[in-house]
Amino acid sequence: MSYDSVRERWLSDPEAFWAKAAGGIDWIQPFSRVLDAEAPSGRWFTGGVLNTCHNALDRHADSGAADRMALVYDSAMTGQVRRFTYAELRDRVAELAGAMQAAGLKRGDRALIYMPMIPESVMAMLACARIGVIHSVVFGGFAARELATRISQARPKLILTASCGLEPNRVVAYKPLLDDALTQTDHSPELVVLLQRPELHAELKPAGEVDWADFLRDAKPAGCVPVKATDPLYILYTSGTTGQPKGIVRDNGGHAVALHWSMKALYGISAGDVFWAASDIGWVVGHSYIVYGPLLAGATSILYEGKPVGTPDAGAFWRVISQHGVNALFAAPTAIRAIRRDDPTLEQASRYDLGTLRALFVAGERCDPDTLHWSGKVLGVPVIDHWWQTETGWAVAGNLLGEGLFPVRAGSAGKALPGWDVRVVDDSGAEVAAGKTGAIVCRLPLPPGALPTLWQADQRFRETYLSDFVGCYTTGDAGYMDADGYLYVMTRTDDVINVAGHRLSTGALEEVLAMHPDVAECAVTGIADELKGQVPLGFLCLKSGIDRAEEEVVSECVALIREHIGPVAAFRKALVVDRLPKTRSGKVLRRVLARIADGVEYAFPATIDDPAILGEIESSLLSAGIRAE
Ligand code: COA
Ligand code: AMP
Repeated sequence: MSYDSVRERWLSDPEAFWAKAAGGIDWIQPFSRVLDAEAPSGRWFTGGVLNTCHNALDRHADSGAADRMALVYDSAMTGQVRRFTYAELRDRVAELAGAMQAAGLKRGDRALIYMPMIPESVMAMLACARIGVIHSVVFGGFAARELATRISQARPKLILTASCGLEPNRVVAYKPLLDDALTQTDHSPELVVLLQRPELHAELKPAGEVDWADFLRDAKPAGCVPVKATDPLYILYTSGTTGQPKGIVRDNGGHAVALHWSMKALYGISAGDVFWAASDIGWVVGHSYIVYGPLLAGATSILYEGKPVGTPDAGAFWRVISQHGVNALFAAPTAIRAIRRDDPTLEQASRYDLGTLRALFVAGERCDPDTLHWSGKVLGVPVIDHWWQTETGWAVAGNLLGEGLFPVRAGSAGKALPGWDVRVVDDSGAEVAAGKTGAIVCRLPLPPGALPTLWQADQRFRETYLSDFVGCYTTGDAGYMDADGYLYVMTRTDDVINVAGHRLSTGALEEVLAMHPDVAECAVTGIADELKGQVPLGFLCLKSGIDRAEEEVVSECVALIREHIGPVAAFRKALVVDRLPKTRSGKVLRRVLARIADGVEYAFPATIDDPAILGEIESSLLSAGIRAE
């Protein structure tokens, strides 16, 4: 097969295409309809009943693959490697699920998982799936306020956490962050279960908090609970334009079918292969391709706790590949740039045998051609950029390793994959010519695995994603498509920025800066960064009469973001200015601010209130050394 023939097969009969793909999944009760096109963005496999955990674990464990490795945990932080076969992982998950059932959790309840990159976190997600509990995983690099927002919105009955995460320069104590978050919410979980890691002991309250080991004591293994294809498997919050994150809902049926299909077709991974997504379970990449995708395919998944550099050196990724026989690696371009910065001549790579590797997949941010070429040279395998979002759950554009690759074009995220009708449109929704930049949209219905709605916010879902262009899903990205169908994803159209492959809302950062007592008004924008792609830059207008050193206020603001949003925001720079550029209707011109800070040309906004401000901002940036001449 080839990309063209697979795409043609999908185009000629999308429902037949996905019905065939659904054959890769065990159904307890077959679906009655492939597609319910009346649902706002399409609903897949209605009437079907299945269990995602059964498909990820039991069906392999019970059919000859019991002794195959399911999960290999490799911690560059502790030097530990732990391996779990399909049978072992299933048994551990069933036990945890049994303890959860004994604690009163049942289908449709929510459990929040605030945990580091350890096997128990994967077990927690799968245990939820096993009994129909909806998990909401919160990334460990988020601080109390972000955690609190997610607790308030998902209203979990149970919170699963650990005593700490391990970062190269420190042990991150989770319990104080969780305690702080719980003081900021109007919701209290019935139970907190905490896994004590040897690196840090956390104190537990006598009521409502229990040690993980005690929780499991006397637990009876739980079987797989049948759930509807359209029942939610998980909620994953992601940054939007405002400070209120969006609760992306993923359902069970479409998700299982799409991920299972993608493992072979897109990543070229079959049962018994080894797949490594070097991400975090707190992000969608971790959900889809550390946990569910590889296990649905019967492959071995690598769970890596560490960094691309500094744990201990820039050879860390190559060590993991050679030690565990990785067949395909998925990483963020930032990680590759970090390795290149530390090991430009590839001394580290030459120490390892990378013979098992067939391809490197990159996503999470735009991959600059230089990084793509360099990594291809290092690894001697195809480097495949592919583009997707938390919302889409799997790649919208890419290449099909499993079907035979078409030639890669550097700077492009490949071509629209089967399932996705991608168009580039102007403000009126009309398609633009090849090579012309516009908003990237997907014609409805969306394929299996994409979000069907936002958690308890159907209206917000429709307004945010389906109302800009009739019959289309708005991706929030802009770019162009060339005459051969290669897509180039260049920038966001909203106030979301991408820092080291992590998606952040400038609105959320602004809300925190506005909490500073001396700040009258503020704006945050993303500016170009060689390593992280983008980093946030704050603009602060101080209240009149404030007579303090500007650096003091700036460093307090930096600390405030770290405390409330988390270190992962990488917020280090802010500039005190007299006023902000705004439109006559009062909207801050963030995009213009970003372009001035990056020293690139910008269109002079016709609607600007007072054009002189732009010159003022430019000279402040120059004198603060944030922008070079
Ligand atoms: N828990 C707690 N803190 C975390 C964390 C976590 N899970 N993850 C990151 N942080 C902290 C880091 O310790 C760091 O804190 P510091 O300011 O005290 O140093 C801060 O958040 C920024 O972290 P990071 O983004 O990792 O930047 P870095 O400068 O430490 O490292 C890279 C640079 C390039 C090595 C790193 O950004 C990286 O590995 N990027 C790839 C990211 C990725 O895989 N994204 C995939 C998304 S699909
Ligand atoms: P997230 O939802 O955190 O996965 O972030 C999704 C966003 O990251 C997308 O909307 C894009 O802006 C950006 N992104 C992800 N992958 C790519 C890619 N391959 N090329 C360009 N941008 C990307």
